[in-house]
Amino acid sequence: MDLKKLLPKNILDLKPYVAGKTIAEVIQEFKPDRISKLASNENRLGCSPLVKEAVIKSLRDIQDYPDPVSRVLRQKIAEINGIKDNEILIAAGSESVLSILCRVLFKSGEQAITADATFVGFFVQAGVKGVDVVKIPITEQYAFDVKSIVRSVNENTKAIYLANPNNPTSTYLTKDEYQFLIDEIPPNVFVIVDEAYYEYARHIIDYPHALDYRKENVIVLRTFSKAYGLAGFRIGYAIAESHLITQLMKAKLTFEPTTPAQFAALAALEDSTFLQKSVDMVEKEKDKLYLFFDNIGINYVRSATNSVLMVLGNEDEAMQITNKMLKEGVILRRVNAFGLPHCIRVTIGTPDEMDHFKESLKQIR
Ligand SMILES: Cc1ncc(COP(=O)(O)O)c(C=O)c1O
Repeated sequence: MDLKKLLPKNILDLKPYVAGKTIAEVIQEFKPDRISKLASNENRLGCSPLVKEAVIKSLRDIQDYPDPVSRVLRQKIAEINGIKDNEILIAAGSESVLSILCRVLFKSGEQAITADATFVGFFVQAGVKGVDVVKIPITEQYAFDVKSIVRSVNENTKAIYLANPNNPTSTYLTKDEYQFLIDEIPPNVFVIVDEAYYEYARHIIDYPHALDYRKENVIVLRTFSKAYGLAGFRIGYAIAESHLITQLMKAKLTFEPTTPAQFAALAALEDSTFLQKSVDMVEKEKDKLYLFFDNIGINYVRSATNSVLMVLGNEDEAMQITNKMLKEGVILRRVNAFGLPHCIRVTIGTPDEMDHFKESLKQIR
């Protein structure tokens, strides 16, 4: 079989996802004394204890298919956000929502615009659908260049993808920038605002909560994978105008997300104490990390998420540091696939994990 002839070019052109090493792989290969996985922006405190109880309860019904519209969870999210439940689509993670959006929104030849250094999952899902992505260089401050994005819109543009705050840079669009953008983007162009890190940024005074600026063409994405600590369950959602949600629902895999995932998310929403503890830990550890980087002379970008981007001299240095840290048992994320080969992203972990990171970095430099 000649797959090169059989399969579409956009699939052949995609690069396979290169996952970071798992904890088990690092233990097997390097046998370090300690392991700190600071690679995937997960919540290093775990998840709320309420989640575990809810998931055990959900197993009672595991022989039945999940509720395809996640009715109870949808109502809860609607209530919390002051919106209607028919304005919400719940799927297996915001990556699944991105996949649905790429399959539903774009006709052949239509383009998306985003930054050249942003969430790789969007590049992948757009690539699978064969959507041409126009990548606008980020600014010198590692932020979305809003003016250039607006200027680049043309008759082929179907959607703008903004991660706010962004991954891997952890920068955010300010209220003024966001207002300018949604005022300038024509109503027939969708604006996808990915708020995966919303819970970490929402207290920042000039951070715009996209739901405060609702427009028919704006689609807001949220996830339970980050601050709520449910990455392993795969559950996230989109908020948009109800007629659009109806269309998006048609492309969702009928029974995603799973019943345990729906129960887990509901329970996670009940535990504001755990959420606050997680956000507070990240804030505190980020401040300590900035001081550490200042002291040892490593450049970084100030962050509105649960990770910090380290800016190294070049790609080789980034690679060397990541590999040496791995031997010390510290798993970091190179972000070349995100468009920044000279950078490394470090997830903010527990105080213990951050000490491990700092001690190891001092040792290898
Ligand atoms: C900006 C952004 N969007 C979406 C995702 C994916 O989230 P989920 O686990 O909900 O698919 C991530 C995960 O890293 C992310 O950084």
